[in-house]
Amino acid sequence: MSQPPTLHVSSHPAILHKLAVLRDGRTEPKKFREVVRELSWLLGYEALADVRTRPLTIRTPMEEMEASELADRIGLMPILRAGLGMVDAMLELMPTAQVWHLGLFRDERTLQPVEYYNKLPDSASVDLCLILDPMLATGGSATAAIDVLKKWGAVKPVRIKLVNLIAAPEGVAAVAEAHPDVEIHCAALDRQLNEKGYIMPGLGDAGDRQFGTGKVG
Ligand code: PRP
Ligand code: URA
Repeated sequence: MSQPPTLHVSSHPAILHKLAVLRDGRTEPKKFREVVRELSWLLGYEALADVRTRPLTIRTPMEEMEASELADRIGLMPILRAGLGMVDAMLELMPTAQVWHLGLFRDERTLQPVEYYNKLPDSASVDLCLILDPMLATGGSATAAIDVLKKWGAVKPVRIKLVNLIAAPEGVAAVAEAHPDVEIHCAALDRQLNEKGYIMPGLGDAGDRQFGTGKVG
């Protein structure tokens, strides 16, 4: 399957190394959360490479110089629950970003996203929105989140990017078809979904693995 031009899969060795730790079924929630955070920082660094800056005059101990400061206003939209683990790293990179929580869960039977929480501010006064979710599986949740942002007012020239740790080809295709203007940044593009909509080889359930709520035994 050919991939859309909006898809960016990182090949950085540090990302590849950390992904192996994340995927390993023996990795405990504490370590898992740590690696989600580290990978989010690295992916965020790549996803934010084209953010605009403006000149800023500062004085070093030696002389005055023209430096740069961030100009784009950024909104981060973590998809609850699993996207929560990506927020802190992104805020380290972009300390002035706003954070808008969106609660979505996948109905296990239909695999359709169900919205249960929405904390968007009244108006879309930003330049760039980053949707944070470790997993892009069927693409249902991501597409719904983008729909929410666009209906709210995040339309051109406001840009939307999706930041995922692991994506499935099915999810990438669904997002690219519904929202060809949205860039997707991920650490890995996996093989396929299984019959239950899980990414293969994936890492299992990203929310359960972060928060220790998986089935025991
Ligand atoms: C997971 C994941 C995504 C969604 C991806 O969340 O974090 O939000 O599934 O699947 P999709 O691409 O098929 O929509 P989940 O619904 O398990 O909720 P949780 O984060 O609360 O565990
Ligand atoms: N959500 C997850 O957490 N993992 C998957 O593999 C698919 C959806």
